[in-house]
Amino acid sequence: APAPASTLVIFGANGDLTRRLLLPALYNLTLAGLLVDGFTVIGVDHNERSDAAYRQQLTEAIRAFVTDKGRESGGDGLDERGWGWLRDRFFYLTGEFEDPDTHRRLAGRLATIRQEHGHGNCVFYLATAPRFFAPVIEGLAGAGLMREEGDDFRRVVIEKPFGTDLASARALNAHILGLVTERQVFRIDHFLGKETVQNILALRFGNGIFEPLWNQKYIDHVQITAAETVGVEQRGRFYETTGALRDMVPNHMMQLLAMIAMEAPNSFDADAVRGEKAKVVQAIRPMAPEEVAREVVRGQYDAGVVQDAPVPGYRQEPRVAPDSVTETYVAMKLHVDNWRWAGVPFYIRTGKRLATRCTRIAIHFRQAPHVMFRGTAVQRLTPNFLVLHIQPSEGISLSLSAKQPGPILRLADVKMDFRYADWFRTGPSTGYETLLYDTLIGDASLFQRADNVEAGWAAMQPVLGHPNGVERYAAGSEGPAGAEALLVRDGRQWLGLT
Ligand code: BG6
Repeated sequence: APAPASTLVIFGANGDLTRRLLLPALYNLTLAGLLVDGFTVIGVDHNERSDAAYRQQLTEAIRAFVTDKGRESGGDGLDERGWGWLRDRFFYLTGEFEDPDTHRRLAGRLATIRQEHGHGNCVFYLATAPRFFAPVIEGLAGAGLMREEGDDFRRVVIEKPFGTDLASARALNAHILGLVTERQVFRIDHFLGKETVQNILALRFGNGIFEPLWNQKYIDHVQITAAETVGVEQRGRFYETTGALRDMVPNHMMQLLAMIAMEAPNSFDADAVRGEKAKVVQAIRPMAPEEVAREVVRGQYDAGVVQDAPVPGYRQEPRVAPDSVTETYVAMKLHVDNWRWAGVPFYIRTGKRLATRCTRIAIHFRQAPHVMFRGTAVQRLTPNFLVLHIQPSEGISLSLSAKQPGPILRLADVKMDFRYADWFRTGPSTGYETLLYDTLIGDASLFQRADNVEAGWAAMQPVLGHPNGVERYAAGSEGPAGAEALLVRDGRQWLGLT
């Protein structure tokens, strides 16, 4: 059903996020018929622009999106009618994010919209640098804009990074929750916008055959990988003080772990789902300093060759210190201390400038208890594993052993493969469509509650507190040698990236 009539206010109207993700997502929602006539967007940013100039700028951005994505996915060109409908709903407000005058003028605009469209529903999207999160919410609350009257809703959407450690995340939550209620806050982790991540719950709880096996009796270990081929691009300044650990682990990697490891919620209700996720992340065993030294590997890329193109090392990237020790790769072994997962290690790794771009979760099952093929060529059995391919080439595959045809008994490794592309036709999307739509209809299941964010930081706090040395790895490789050793020590091996 279409989202209720509402106004979307975007702070950071001229930013990258708005252009690359929010705008295309709104366009796709328009084409899907999920926005209604009373829908309005007000873009707020500090540069001067007229509404007409802003609309022109957006038109160019959406054309670029449709062309780029269309090439990847065979999508069609711009839908002029759909775009025209959406374009005319965009307005621009020039103002500094922290200036009370901006919020006053915004209040004036919203009052006019209420008169014209008969609703006061509003979602404030903070597509800004994190230092503006608290001041903007303060400004909105100060101007009375977060007050919900009658059936009207007032919501605020916050992007990551949400804090830089446990203490700062707690402080930010406390600050925000002093101004608005938890129900009004939508903290985004964009990994949850990915269809394949949402599908983890469908796989686990929409099928009867997996859940009985989903525990320490049958699972040997789990590998979670988020490998990228890109370097730090133009984000050197941000990345220098952030690093792979803070950038990816307490948020995205913890989301993946939570989806795989959580108990079945008793309903699909937002708080039921988020409650189970919080519990499982809270069950991650806190690492002692000597465990951090042994179970965590950090790496930084040197120059190398990524997909046939020579690339510079991290220390040569713009705005990166020539002697930087910021990690661009991190791997670690985690334990989830509960009945379901006792003794099952979760190995996670993420890094930039690796051999391939690939985000996936591999569930490695225990080996069959007995090799019964005595006196044959079969000496050992390969354990089964189920791989959830999050991106790219979205799908799920199960690795099995099968008898090779022929008079001599040999086993070969084969695969049962489900590819999204074989079953579903989807157009070019951003992964923000569902997230934006959910903020408009008020479904918070895919958003982080305060305790979810804090649980992620709490699990990583011991690692943040005891930084270990940074190993070198060549750009285009599978990562530092230490990450291999982390599994080899346990008699295991990472699934190769290529
Ligand atoms: C972001 C990180 O949150 O996630 C980036 O800040 C990273 O460094 C990105 O590249 C990965 O997201 P995706 O959707 O490309 O896997």
